[in-house]
Amino acid sequence: MSAVLKVEDLAKTFILWEKGLVRKKIRAVESVSFSVEKNEIFGFVGPNGAGKTTTIKMLMGLIFPSAGTIEILGRRLIGHKTVDIEAKRVIGFLPENPYFYDYLTGRELLDFVGRLFGIPGPERQRRIHDLLDLVGLGRAGNLALRKYSKGMLQRIGIAQALINNPELVILDEPMSGLDPIGRKEIRDLIVQLRDQGKTVFFSTHILSDVELICNRVAIVVGGKLRDVGPLDKLLSPRLLHTEVVLETAGERREHRLPPTEDVDAFLLRALSEGHKVISVTPRRESIEDLFVREVEQSDTGMGAQHKLGREARP
Ligand SMILES: Nc1ncnc2c1ncn2[C@@H]1O[C@H](COP(=O)(O)OP(=O)(O)OP(=O)(O)O)[C@@H](O)[C@H]1O
Ligand SMILES: [Mg+2]
Repeated sequence: MSAVLKVEDLAKTFILWEKGLVRKKIRAVESVSFSVEKNEIFGFVGPNGAGKTTTIKMLMGLIFPSAGTIEILGRRLIGHKTVDIEAKRVIGFLPENPYFYDYLTGRELLDFVGRLFGIPGPERQRRIHDLLDLVGLGRAGNLALRKYSKGMLQRIGIAQALINNPELVILDEPMSGLDPIGRKEIRDLIVQLRDQGKTVFFSTHILSDVELICNRVAIVVGGKLRDVGPLDKLLSPRLLHTEVVLETAGERREHRLPPTEDVDAFLLRALSEGHKVISVTPRRESIEDLFVREVEQSDTGMGAQHKLGREARP
């Protein structure tokens, strides 16, 4: 395996000035290091304000890091106040809140972005055709973007990120604001990109999305990287508790048995007392628990205030 993206000690501090004096320093990203291997789907996960978008803007060369290095396919992206344009040619990018001129049709948008990349006419037309197909907008290609639903806009956004046939696709919250069907469509699309040999890096705060499709994840909280690795390695295999649902005279009740309790003995006792056993479920750590644990351990102490975006799976 070879690294497509390598980030070392990346940091960004925003300085807010007031009348020529530093009013406030915001350490949005602090000493973040990770690498993304070829052909993997890498999830960049963290609560609101964690520093995901700031990191992605640095990966895209849109803002300069305060410290650290970024390598894309072995090329240094950022030197002293310069961005390596060649490195950017191999990246596709969907920003967090994309704004597309909405009187354009989907096809015109792709044509516009294709021209920016200098892709010659016939090749451009072929790519536009294939991409509209790939994102399921074959028939909506001639419709103005203002008539697109949120899900369609996200999909045309992904299509425009692919026009240059990039090796590395960077998506900032590609599933945000979508319903379960829309989210599944984006997930399927990301998996399809991996199947085509691409490398996908995306940020999210929706845990089930990374659980379903990512090879590896990085968890970022308060600007700091808390953990990187395959999900099953990050999740602790320990049993949290066992949930037992019993029914008595038509009424159901849930019991939570601590890991130390003898479940067999509990069930035998319940049956002998005339209860009916409806279900027995051992609960191990889920990605949601991991996330909460990481947020709680972070020194920002913001954990309790954060609502986690785990939504129903389709
Ligand atoms: N241009 C800026 N000037 C000052 N502070 C900024 C700027 N951009 C981001 N920040 C701050 O940096 C921190 C990280 O923000 P960032 O947008 O990277 O988080 P995020 O993980 O993308 O969050 P979200 O899930 O809400 O998109 C926040 O405290 C934010 O207020
Ligand atoms: Mg963001």
